[in-house]
Amino acid sequence: MITRLILDCDTGTDDAVAIMAAACHPNLDLIAVTTVNGNVPLANTTENSLRVLDHLGSSIPVYAGAPRPLIRPDFPIPRLILNGDNPEFQVLYLDLPEAVSRPQTTNAVQFLIDSYLDEQNADVVLVAVGPLTNLALALAAEPSLAWRIPRLIIMGGSRGWGNVTAVAEFNIWVDPEAAEAVLSSGIRDILIVPLDATHDAPISLLDCDLFDSIGTPAALASSALIRHRIGHYPDALDATKLSAPVHDALCIAALVHPEVLQEVGEYTAHVETAGTHTLGELVLDSRAWRTDRSNVRVALRANAQLFVQFLADAFRS
Ligand code: RIB
Ligand code: CA
Repeated sequence: MITRLILDCDTGTDDAVAIMAAACHPNLDLIAVTTVNGNVPLANTTENSLRVLDHLGSSIPVYAGAPRPLIRPDFPIPRLILNGDNPEFQVLYLDLPEAVSRPQTTNAVQFLIDSYLDEQNADVVLVAVGPLTNLALALAAEPSLAWRIPRLIIMGGSRGWGNVTAVAEFNIWVDPEAAEAVLSSGIRDILIVPLDATHDAPISLLDCDLFDSIGTPAALASSALIRHRIGHYPDALDATKLSAPVHDALCIAALVHPEVLQEVGEYTAHVETAGTHTLGELVLDSRAWRTDRSNVRVALRANAQLFVQFLADAFRS
């Protein structure tokens, strides 16, 4: 069975692996990439996405979207500042040849609207692995997308600690108002893959050796990108320097192997948009006596071996 998808991303290193896995796996049909400001500014997330697809020799179209969050005037904060002493973690330009292809002239927000207004795309899953600004804008302009999008997978949030603040994960923190708008939109099938799951399935240097042995352009590029992540991952998170999470690609794996995600539960989810110390927190309510109905499913664990097998299968194709 072939799953068709649109990937909305802020291409950085893990987004790049997600793009390659989605573009290469035989059971997936990546019909488009949409880009948003996030890890790096929009011009860079767009150029990086084009570089990845050119590297694969792919003609999958790239649509550039929102250059900044809905509300917050203080973003994009350069990751150099955000990352403090680890400026090299998310690079402005991926270490791939400069793109020769160009983005489409249609804005990503309009592309999302046009795509889901077309009933021929009623099966297309939307995978969002960056800040949710593009989708929030599309939903605001065309509310019917809430019932037209059949399934949304989000890389974002955390049940445990955050990676920007004690409680906030980057994608949600960058544009909390967008995230709240998306979670409250009524989209009927939302699966959230938070840091709890992505950190439960890190990719190791040994896995990169496996990818190198596969030897395809996707395998070699992904190995290099993941080795970069391992080498630059904050010591506070993994001083062993033997593995690192590849957050966004885990969402792609879940399309082919749903069982790669574990401890999946129903929650009523909202996003803190005002807290002094909690801005950007994904608030997950699982109390049996809660009155609000569940609006999301959230995975708290993941199967690392199956994740690696999925990536190897994709890169061999
Ligand atoms: O917090 C991890 C997420 O933020 C990933 O999607 C990464 O690419 C960044 O966008
Ligand atoms: Ca991302």
